[in-house]
Amino acid sequence: MPVKTIDWKNGTVRIVDQTKLPGKLVFLDCHTPEEVWRAIRRLAVRGAPAIGIAAAMGLALGARASRASNRAGFMKEVKRIARYLATARPTAVNLFWALRRMIKVAEKAREAGVPELKKILEREAIAILREDNDICSRIGENGSSLIKEGAGILTHCNAGGLATGRYGTALSVIFAAHEKGRRIRVFADETRPLLQGSRLTAWELTHAGIETTLICDNMAARVMYEGKVDIVITGADRIAANGDTANKIGTYGLARLAEVHGIPFYIAAPLSTVDLDTPCGEMIPIEERDPDEVRRIGELWIAPRRVDVYNPAFDVTPARFIRAIITEAGIVRPPYKKNLASIVMKAEREKAVMERKPAE
Ligand code: MRU
Repeated sequence: MPVKTIDWKNGTVRIVDQTKLPGKLVFLDCHTPEEVWRAIRRLAVRGAPAIGIAAAMGLALGARASRASNRAGFMKEVKRIARYLATARPTAVNLFWALRRMIKVAEKAREAGVPELKKILEREAIAILREDNDICSRIGENGSSLIKEGAGILTHCNAGGLATGRYGTALSVIFAAHEKGRRIRVFADETRPLLQGSRLTAWELTHAGIETTLICDNMAARVMYEGKVDIVITGADRIAANGDTANKIGTYGLARLAEVHGIPFYIAAPLSTVDLDTPCGEMIPIEERDPDEVRRIGELWIAPRRVDVYNPAFDVTPARFIRAIITEAGIVRPPYKKNLASIVMKAEREKAVMERKPAE
């Protein structure tokens, strides 16, 4: 990534305003939880891991500004801000994961007073960002073996550096294969209605010098039929305990198309996107967005202003269409219910051991 998607700068959350890309590279400085909430809601910052990082930083901003004089009052206020930030978007579980992690770290510091708690929350938000960079590069490394020399790769929406702290998930796999010198061609779906594929993915891939072909969403079947696609990789917004996966609207159709054409379909995502509390895809809340996103492209009206519109932002791909899930801890294959639970629990046990170890 040529720029940092999101950063913490002395009490300011600085994000790349993704609504302006690829035309302009504009940074947006958020100083309050409300500004962060709005940035998430209007997709100035977007993509599951990036939303989580932004929310954690938004909470650190709220904590910093607190005037509470004691621990109990402070925790009450912080929890209220966390509940508020959690309403920004409903589908990507990383948002709730990050906020829960922030609250937990504050609760654990039982002896800390208000000034110390403010520092703890700021440090935790920055740690979430740093860890994300490391997690994404491990996803790339783990998945790169799946990309063969000369491969045609299809991806949907944007699961790149812009959707995370820096490297991305699905695109991290592609970047890693490219860095290993493999000759690859990526087909990027434009991803209507908000065009994350053409505006963001094509921008990131061409910046990295990767051969990229932009297609409209309705061209994927033709491109597969012509034998140009060897593998499909997308990111995820929430992976249920049984492996059913919510991702940008259109992903489910691609997975079915891949199945029909005998093409393997992979998900690349951090373990923070796995939601063991949601048993299956039907239980994942799907965000519905403003109808005008479909009636317009940017400022241009492309439909009658009053026509009825249905605008679900995500769909769910049933686990049976997913060949494997690439995570930072390894590649998870079916049966997902068993294998996702064991990889998540193993990672949690390892983290707990690391936290208990005294710093060297
Ligand atoms: O509505 P968006 O742009 O936030 O949707 C993003 C996606 O669906 C991404 O594919 C997903 O969050 C994976 S991000 C690494």
